[in-house]
Parts: sequence; C-alpha cells; structure tokens
Amino acid sequence: KPYIVIMAGGIGSRFWPYSRNNRPKQFLDILGTGRTLLQMTFDRFLNMTDPDRFFVVTNKQYFDLAKEQLPEIPESNILKEPQRRDTANCIAYASYKIQQKDGDAKIIVSPSDHLILNEISFVQNMNKAMVACEEDGRLITIGIQPNRPETGYGYIQYFSNDSDAPKKVKTFTEKPNLKLAKTFIESGDFVWNSGMFVWKVQSIIRAFEKYMPEVSEVFEEGADFYNTERENEFIVNAYSQVKNISIDFGVMEKSDEVYVILGEFGWSDLGSWMSLYEIRDKDSSNNVVEGNALLYDTENCYVKVPSNKLVVVQGLENYLVNESDNVLLICKLDAEKKFREFVIDAKAKG
Ligand code: GDD
Ligand code: MG
Repeated sequence: KPYIVIMAGGIGSRFWPYSRNNRPKQFLDILGTGRTLLQMTFDRFLNMTDPDRFFVVTNKQYFDLAKEQLPEIPESNILKEPQRRDTANCIAYASYKIQQKDGDAKIIVSPSDHLILNEISFVQNMNKAMVACEEDGRLITIGIQPNRPETGYGYIQYFSNDSDAPKKVKTFTEKPNLKLAKTFIESGDFVWNSGMFVWKVQSIIRAFEKYMPEVSEVFEEGADFYNTERENEFIVNAYSQVKNISIDFGVMEKSDEVYVILGEFGWSDLGSWMSLYEIRDKDSSNNVVEGNALLYDTENCYVKVPSNKLVVVQGLENYLVNESDNVLLICKLDAEKKFREFVIDAKAKG
C-alpha cells in the first residue's frame, strides 16, 4: 500500500478575498460539496491505502486547520514547516522521514487543491503508476491532455510507444513563457504535468542526491531525529538552510529517469476563479450564484456573497462579485493576472 504525501502549504492568492492567508483554498469547501479540497484529496486516496499512511505537509500556521479537517490521520503525520520553501523541500522532508520508517515505501505525492472528476479512472491510473515506479530510479509523472498555452504548468514531452506502458520523458519544461507554451501546444507533442508524482522512496532520495545535493545533505542529517521528539527542532534548523525551489525545477527538469502515464480522469487545478466558474453548475443565464443575490440582465457572472446580506446586481457580463469577510471584490472574471496586485495593495491599505 502506498504512502500518500499531500502538499498543503500553498497560499492560494488567486482566490482572494475568499481564500486568505489564514485559510488558503485547500482548506475551503470551494466546490460546495461539504468537504474541503484537502478533505476531498484525502477521500480520493482512501480507496488505496490506510489513514496512517497519509502525510500532510503544511506550514505550522495551518497545523490546527489540517488536524481539524483530517481527524482520521495521526497527528504526527501532519508535518509542520517553519517557512514556505516550496515543493522540493516539502517532498524531501516527507521522503526522508518516510524512508526512516519504511525503506521500501512507495509514495504518491499529491497537491491538496485539485479537482478530479472521475475517481474510478483516477485510481486505475494511480495503480498503473504504482506498478510503473517499481523499477529502480523511475520517477513517474501523470500527464494531462492540454487545451491552451497555459504558462503556469509544467510541459512534458515523451517518446511515444504504442503500449499503454509508462512513456519515457524526453523533456520536462516547468512554466515556459507564452511563446514557448504556444509552440508546445502547436506541436501536439506535449502534455501538462498534473503535479502528482509516484515513486519509490529510494528513487526520489537518489534523485535528490544527484540533482539537489544541497537539499539531500541537509535532510539526511535528520536520520537520528525523524520520528523522535526532536524532529521539529531539526526541521526548523534544516529549513533555515535550504533555498526556495520546486520539485519541478529542482528534479523533474533535470532527471533522465522521468516517465509519464497519461491521466484521463477529468482534471482541474482550480487555479483561478474562472476555472472554478467553468466547472460549477450555472443558471439559465450562465451565472454561478452562491449566497443571497438578485440578478438582472446579468450573464456569465460568478456571484459569491454572504447569505446574511442581500446583493442586487444589474447589467454585468463576465464579472466576478465576491464578498468574503470584510472585503468586496468586483472584477472581470478573467482578471487572474491582477490578483497579486490586489492582494499586495489591499495589505498596504490595511
Ligand atoms: N507543504 C508545502 N510547502 N506545500 C506547498 C508549498 C510549500 O512550500 N508550496 C506549494 N505547496 C503545495 C500547494 O499547496 C499545492 O497543493 C502544491 O504544493 C503545488 O504547488 P503550486 O504552488 O500550486 O504549484 P504550481 O501550480 O505553480 O505548479 C505545479 O503544479 C502544476 C499543476 O497544477 C507544478 O508541478 C507544475 O509543473 C504543474 O503543471
Ligand atoms: Mg497549483
């Protein structure tokens, strides 16, 4: 049975003001299902393994949230990061700790904030990946058929073969610029990296040693501390020594042992209000409405407002209206490039 490492330390700034620093999107019931994205991630993998094989890696600030939302997993499996150091370090921490418990472990690394539509084919895919990773050294990625030149993703080019075995990866390009992304899409030769990874613990540790020795040196020092009372003390020190870097830049772009399995399960990384709008049910004017609102002559809008206040909207098209806590945001539904600015300026205003 696999170990599941859920990465839950991101801040989700593109869902502001709904998603805040003190409650990023993975801790929100963003789909209105009654379960948060983190809980949905847990539920999805529970078909494959036991609760005590789940590890959630998150900032210490979110420890209580994670514990409250996943009471099924042992508290000691919620790993506290003192700072955000991006996914390479998050994965290194979990990997070295798991290796100490179980040197033969197979690990599935997953983001905490994605949507998977078809859970049955998802599990089939994961099972394929579990078999594919058995060969020493292999790092398995899950590829998604792309449909636009999105610059926020990793792009995977692979050697085609006709079996449905894992395909060897030719190139992995993390977050290309728009021009490059367009040529990738036009060539028809690339898939998106879903951000989920499957590997044996020794395989990823060997990759850290080879491609990120500065990281492996720091985390292997912890051998005497993982799974003891002094783990946290060790980690605080370790995190002060490592640089901010993602697994995609640190390992996936460099390794020649990367393989891809094509995922066909309906995937969205819910990266923006627009992506959320697209998957939600809409009324007859193509609006998504949550909360207490009256809409007139309004189309293609996402209106998410509190239920204790009546909001009246007229004449809007392609807009987002979101009131969360004490912030009211009205902006174009596709304004995701602006969000960084909104958040910085809003902070400055206090
Ligand atoms: N514990 C922890 N610590 N988790 C983190 C940290 C961190 O410092 N930084 C990010 N995460 C978590 C996020 O919460 C998210 O669940 C996951 O790790 C991925 O991080 P993102 O910041 O969302 O990465 P990305 O979306 O820019 O890019 C990745 O995902 C894309 C698909 O959505 C890459 O893997 C791309 O190649 C991929 O296409
Ligand atoms: Mg992401």
